[in-house]
Amino acid sequence: MWEGKKESYSIQFGCRKCSNHVPDAGWIFTIAQHQPDKHYVMSNKYMKISLRDCLIRYWKKEDAPTIAKYANNRKIWLNLRDRFPHPYHLSDAEDFLTRVFEQQPVTFFAIANEKEAIGSIGLMLGEDIHRYTAELGYWLAEPFWNKGIMTEVVSKFTDFAFERFELHRIFAEPYTNNTASVRILEKSGFILEGTLRGNVFKDGKILDQYLYAKIRDEIT
Ligand SMILES: CC(C)(COP(=O)(O)OP(=O)(O)OC[C@H]1O[C@@H](n2cnc3c(N)ncnc32)[C@H](O)[C@@H]1OP(=O)(O)O)[C@@H](O)C(=O)NCCC(=O)NCCS
Repeated sequence: MWEGKKESYSIQFGCRKCSNHVPDAGWIFTIAQHQPDKHYVMSNKYMKISLRDCLIRYWKKEDAPTIAKYANNRKIWLNLRDRFPHPYHLSDAEDFLTRVFEQQPVTFFAIANEKEAIGSIGLMLGEDIHRYTAELGYWLAEPFWNKGIMTEVVSKFTDFAFERFELHRIFAEPYTNNTASVRILEKSGFILEGTLRGNVFKDGKILDQYLYAKIRDEIT
């Protein structure tokens, strides 16, 4: 298995089909891009971004009960779109995983510790003239809040995502009352571009959203 290291974290990949080590040629997404027929490198089995307190990996079928356990939380739902179910049942988790497993390329990833999945991070890739742009979304299980986990995840995941999906811009639109998410984005180098006034109807209320974005050229 090839292991690349950058700053304080590492990414490991291997080929699910042939079980071969992937040649040491830098970032794996470059290899995936140039040799798509040679190695199925983006696999559940091997994709892993190791961070200080957790890792980012592909979703697994076995994650469904854990997702249902943690996602069934009104405090999480209140900060996400209404298409994120509430209450959140096991069948919702299974539907989510079915959609993820059909994705090509996969853009939704599990945040996990050694025991279980504890959150989710993903991108909605833009299309047409927005094809170099993607919207970032994430949530973390409440027992793990306030430990700096998502700050590290967002920062490292955006580095990865710019490369892997060949993006120029990644944006996020937290509700203006979502202080934690705003802090995460600011600490991860996202720039506030404006306020989208009255842009959301959530839980019976009209809310404002911030527009935060990070441009590839701004990566230091
Ligand atoms: C937003 C969320 C991902 C935060 O994850 P987290 O791992 O707890 O965040 P961190 O520990 O990295 O904290 C980030 C910052 O927010 C602050 N923070 C955390 N929870 C907070 C809260 N409830 N209220 C105010 N600030 C909070 C932290 O103190 C930290 O600030 P600091 O850098 O000044 O110390 C998590 O609360 C969550 O999943 N919320 C529901 C879903 C959601 O809001 N998704 C984002 C949609 S845009």
